[in-house]
Amino acid sequence: MKIFLDTSDVGVIKHHYQTGLVDGVTTNPTLMMQAGRNPVDVISEISSVFSGRGYHIGSISAEVVADSAEEMVLQAEQYHSIGENITIKVPCTYEGLKACRELSERDIKVNVTLIFSLNQSILAAKAGATYISPFIGRCEDNDIDGIDLISSIKRVFKLNSITTTNILAASIRSIDHVNDSYKAGADIVTLPPKIFEEMYKHVLTDQGLAQFDKDWKELNK
Ligand code: E4P
Repeated sequence: MKIFLDTSDVGVIKHHYQTGLVDGVTTNPTLMMQAGRNPVDVISEISSVFSGRGYHIGSISAEVVADSAEEMVLQAEQYHSIGENITIKVPCTYEGLKACRELSERDIKVNVTLIFSLNQSILAAKAGATYISPFIGRCEDNDIDGIDLISSIKRVFKLNSITTTNILAASIRSIDHVNDSYKAGADIVTLPPKIFEEMYKHVLTDQGLAQFDKDWKELNK
């Protein structure tokens, strides 16, 4: 059960990485636009964050943007040269899946993104994807049950003994999305930092802590 952060904000990633709870990062062109910096520089910095400590090197998804598989592979080579923890993100299109097949045959990890159906997941697994990203929030925006989609993918992968393609729940908008994704069988959930921060919180924890602090002070008066 892994947690990725869904952001291109290097400061936020550095901060949360220190918890030892973060296993990777996903980025996309929109998140890169928000960062407002050169994407190769951003990916290099994120890669270094994960390379600097002992516990794991993580997986950093860098998305290619191109019309043809050939161009996607060229962009992927540039990202992959940054470090061994780089995963190439390609869209679930005809050209994207061609690129996925070529890259995975070269042992480059691929995350097939913008997944909205079981059939897309099957093709991505066949193309050798290490990760597939069903978009839960955007499914719901379009009256598709994203959690049911994860359950179906999990079931079909299990029936067919597919163990090398991980289900990475993306487009997460709430704590319920996180919990329900894991319950449905997601291997990884990629969280906007705001949702990760919410996961720590519970009103009863705050209340209990306030009582313990009060009693401790009373004892030490
Ligand atoms: C992650 O891989 C996706 O790019 C991201 O989760 C999309 O989220 P959004 O639908 O909130 O933009």
